[in-house]
Amino acid sequence: MRASESRGSCPRANTATRVEHPPRAFEQIPKRHYASLKQNTGLKIGRLRGREGFAMSATRDTLTITDNRTGKQYEVPVKDGTIRAMDLRQIKAGEEDFGLMTYDPAFMNTASCKSTITYIDGDRGILEYRGYPIEQLAEQSNYLEVAYLLLHGELPTEKQLADWRWNITHHTFINENIKKVLDGFHHSAHPMGMFEAMVAALSTFYPEAKNIEDAACRRKQIHRLIAKVPTIAAFAFRHRIGLPYSYPDNDLSYEGNFLNMMFKTTELKYQPNPVLERALSVLFILHADHEQNCSTNAMRSIGSAHTDPYSALAGAAAALYGPLHGGANEAVLRMLNEIGSVERVPEYVRRVKAGEFKLMGFGHRVYKNYDPRATIIKQIAYEVFDVTGKDPLLDLALELERIALEDEYFVKRKLYPNVDFYSGIIYRAMRFPVDMFPVLFAIPRTSGWLAQWVELLEDPEQKIARPRQIYLGRRTRDYVAMKQRDGAAAGQAAGAGGEA
Ligand code: ACO
Repeated sequence: MRASESRGSCPRANTATRVEHPPRAFEQIPKRHYASLKQNTGLKIGRLRGREGFAMSATRDTLTITDNRTGKQYEVPVKDGTIRAMDLRQIKAGEEDFGLMTYDPAFMNTASCKSTITYIDGDRGILEYRGYPIEQLAEQSNYLEVAYLLLHGELPTEKQLADWRWNITHHTFINENIKKVLDGFHHSAHPMGMFEAMVAALSTFYPEAKNIEDAACRRKQIHRLIAKVPTIAAFAFRHRIGLPYSYPDNDLSYEGNFLNMMFKTTELKYQPNPVLERALSVLFILHADHEQNCSTNAMRSIGSAHTDPYSALAGAAAALYGPLHGGANEAVLRMLNEIGSVERVPEYVRRVKAGEFKLMGFGHRVYKNYDPRATIIKQIAYEVFDVTGKDPLLDLALELERIALEDEYFVKRKLYPNVDFYSGIIYRAMRFPVDMFPVLFAIPRTSGWLAQWVELLEDPEQKIARPRQIYLGRRTRDYVAMKQRDGAAAGQAAGAGGEA
């Protein structure tokens, strides 16, 4: 599109509701100046109807940009509250110019995809999967049903759910050779490191998974992955503590079977506690998807290279492992242990405010309100404690939350507890060791990652993910032979990556 051309396909705004305040720049241009403006800028002024010597406001879904370097104006479409970054490329300061780009480290204001899976309103604390509020799903659904919903877009019928459950249940075993890979890990290996490696290793057992264009083949890998991640997680845990592996039990629910593989010892048949089984299902529902978070972005980015889903999911799990993301639940527990007592909370908060460290489990890129998942988790904590006995860390966490939510530092920055603040306390009460927490996040997020992966592959607008950069380093210079590199030359070379 050339400067000042308009896009005919752009839908018109509903003028009654969409444009209440006409853009002043056009409103105040006297009519007699139109001709020169049109001449100088190339703008199609004819589209702006005059009124008593003044231009009417433009009431279409477009954005007009004036490039003050050249004086040119451009009109780009606005759709779904967004402009396309590629529409800016036409804006050039000269013939040689590459064209305007946007700079957005950490994707603070850039949509990388269109999605119909998860909706978040961070200001109002709303989370929906496929349009269903998280509160209703947590109360009435179970994890496998939610996984189906995320992947298929609709809640399953009874028959669809039975088939889905059958397919998942009958893929829970892992190849015996995977256990040999697991045996190679040191006894103190972190379970999340083992989890990532095992998931990546699965790709070597299912080479047909590379056939990502084939929907039936994709479905098979989806069944396998959702089914096998609890087995891998539980086996990693048992390897660490030196217990024999407990094999999947097809009579149990997804969550009950996971508890069986984790905790079964000498009993002939493991009977999961129904309250804990249900609590685990709710926790899994809450963690199943969260739109374009760091690990999902990793899944999509790796998947965009048409990598098989096992390798892509291992990469997503690696992103989740970080303490700023899914590793935060582990960090919260370590933090609470370090604080140790309610009396020490004010001093800890003082140090957070002084910038010494962050309050783990607080803050979120999207939520500037209470994370709705944290509200639900706080409620089920009490149901779990009725069975397990209250974890003393709960009082500490509640006091930390109370002080933080009253403090101006947190209020001003809209920092609220996120999903990870209370989940660790519940997991600990259920006897999961602290370093299993990120793995407990990865198990349910597998369905979300896979739903996002399928959406990516089916989106005709998606291509291999490849951001641009602003290159600020040195340009073409001659290689310096080793013996000619004195201190000054070496210093120059070292500075090559820095400012130029
Ligand atoms: N404790 C203290 N201060 C914080 C915290 C925190 N947990 N989180 C943010 N802030 C402060 C920042 O220092 C910054 O202050 P400033 O404006 O004075 O510089 C301000 O709040 C804005 O924070 P950003 O870092 O710009 O927010 P961002 O969106 O980049 O980071 C994140 C979000 C990574 C979640 C951050 O809040 C954090 O590190 N929290 C702790 C880790 C955590 O709980 N992660 C789990 C997130 S949920 C999930 O991934 C499953």
